[in-house]
Amino acid sequence: MRRRIDTAPNGKPLRSAASCRSRRPVMISGGAGFIGTNLATQLIENGRDVLLFDNLSRPGVEENLAWLTDQYGEHVKVEVQDIRDSLAVRHAVARSSAVFHLAAQVAVTHSLVDPGFDFEVNARGTLNVLEACRGCTTPPPLLFTSTNKVYGSLADVRCVRDGDCYQPSCAETRAHGVSEARPLQFHSPYGCSKGAADQYVLDYARCYSLPAVVFRMSCIYGPHQCGNEDQGWLAHFARRIIADEPLSIYGDGRQVRDVLFVTDLVAAMLKAIDQIKVTAGQAFNIGGGPANAVSLLQVIDHLAELRGQRPEVEYGPWRQGDQKYYVSDTRRFQATTGWAPAVDAPQGIERLWAWLAEHVVEQPALSGV
Ligand SMILES: NC(=O)c1ccc[n+]([C@@H]2O[C@H](COP(=O)([O-])OP(=O)(O)OC[C@H]3O[C@@H](n4cnc5c(N)ncnc54)[C@H](O)[C@@H]3O)[C@@H](O)[C@H]2O)c1
Repeated sequence: MRRRIDTAPNGKPLRSAASCRSRRPVMISGGAGFIGTNLATQLIENGRDVLLFDNLSRPGVEENLAWLTDQYGEHVKVEVQDIRDSLAVRHAVARSSAVFHLAAQVAVTHSLVDPGFDFEVNARGTLNVLEACRGCTTPPPLLFTSTNKVYGSLADVRCVRDGDCYQPSCAETRAHGVSEARPLQFHSPYGCSKGAADQYVLDYARCYSLPAVVFRMSCIYGPHQCGNEDQGWLAHFARRIIADEPLSIYGDGRQVRDVLFVTDLVAAMLKAIDQIKVTAGQAFNIGGGPANAVSLLQVIDHLAELRGQRPEVEYGPWRQGDQKYYVSDTRRFQATTGWAPAVDAPQGIERLWAWLAEHVVEQPALSGV
């Protein structure tokens, strides 16, 4: 039976939104996934209906979908469809007031096993979305979720070991991270397919004046994340530790990422679309920035403290294209839109932990995509 609530997952009261609901929904491709679920929640809370376009191929996301429809009922429209199906994409886009394109083959590891499939979903799928937007009389604003992997392995960023993490030798990079001025260097089939899609989106903004913007995202984490060994490492580690299962680290665990709590990402996404007149045609690096730069080992230490015992850890070889240090320089997006992250890494990790403890503690950790 459908359960209605009057508070959102972030604890804020839900607005009585019926009066201000726009008639056309906001489309989220990959809307049952981790980021999609959090984005949908916020949009509905803001008074919008959502159209979730997802083929439910990622294990675990049916639970997100069941949760969303249970909580928000008729405000959630669902199309269980594949992004490779251009006709289905065209129909969905034509009904929507804005489009967030998140659906993707998300794992570098899987792209190495099946580059053709990865290309079809990520590159061809994005072209389907772009063509559908171009076909509209008034194209809806579009946000595409790209990745820091478009900058490659950053092998030339010299790093020194500093305790449990790597730090870049260059003071400027240490202070601000990697900016959009960094040359693109696709590495891995996933890097290529997302990078191609990223460039297509920018080019459709240029050639066809589509109101489209690109986010090159670092490590996002938070509730509803079905993290596994192939993607979503922070949630994966938390799930394993909470279930008292061993962890595998590829490399030495000192690699550094700037982590961003998902509610902060969602706030950035909404700002980018609200201010599409100024953001269109641009790619922005989005992450927690230098203030939220953490190594895998440091995250494991924090999670072990929350659990009250250390996990067993196995070490494997470095993965293809893995960066020793990637931290986003978000100054351009901050200056353009006024956005800034509100949840720091320790707070965010504790929020994720609390959510997992409440929702998935009884379930075994997910393995494999
Ligand atoms: N989570 C991160 O840290 C991160 C970092 C950089 C970029 N991204 C990008 O953000 C987007 C969302 O990531 P996420 O973490 O929410 O991943 P996710 O796997 O939780 O969500 C992706 C969703 O897309 C759906 N999907 C996959 N193939 C599809 C297809 N062919 N047709 C329709 N739906 C399909 C899946 O079922 C899933 O629900 C992805 O494009 C990903 O590449 C994520």
